[in-house]
Amino acid sequence: MYAIAKVIIALGAFIAPSVAFSGDMTYYAPGLGACGLTNTESEAVVAMSPSQDGNCGRTINISYNGKTASATVVDKCPGCAGDSIDVSPAVFEQLESLDAGRVQVTWEYA
Ligand SMILES: *[C@@H]1O[C@H](CO)[C@@H](O)[C@H](O)[C@H]1NC(C)=O
Repeated sequence: MYAIAKVIIALGAFIAPSVAFSGDMTYYAPGLGACGLTNTESEAVVAMSPSQDGNCGRTINISYNGKTASATVVDKCPGCAGDSIDVSPAVFEQLESLDAGRVQVTWEYA
């Protein structure tokens, strides 16, 4: 019984698609973040909405317009609604010109 449950759980973890989130992506000037790290605009970092609290240090992959960029969670974004994210300019620029300011993206934990 126990062994069968373990097999089912292992199988589920293997076949379950990774959860993708979607929301707006904006950019900010990183500094001392809620995770206790100090980061700069040239580092690939992201601040997460309150719905994604407690994920300091995890990496996310952001998809936009056929492109992908990775960023490490270093801060909170209290003003981010839903699953929106606030990234460093270095990340934003990999996907879209900073002039755009705000674009809709999908992202997932790497
Ligand atoms: C995230 O991106 C990295 C680097 O491109 C890649 O190796 C990894 O497989 C991606 N993870 C997911 C869940 O897509």
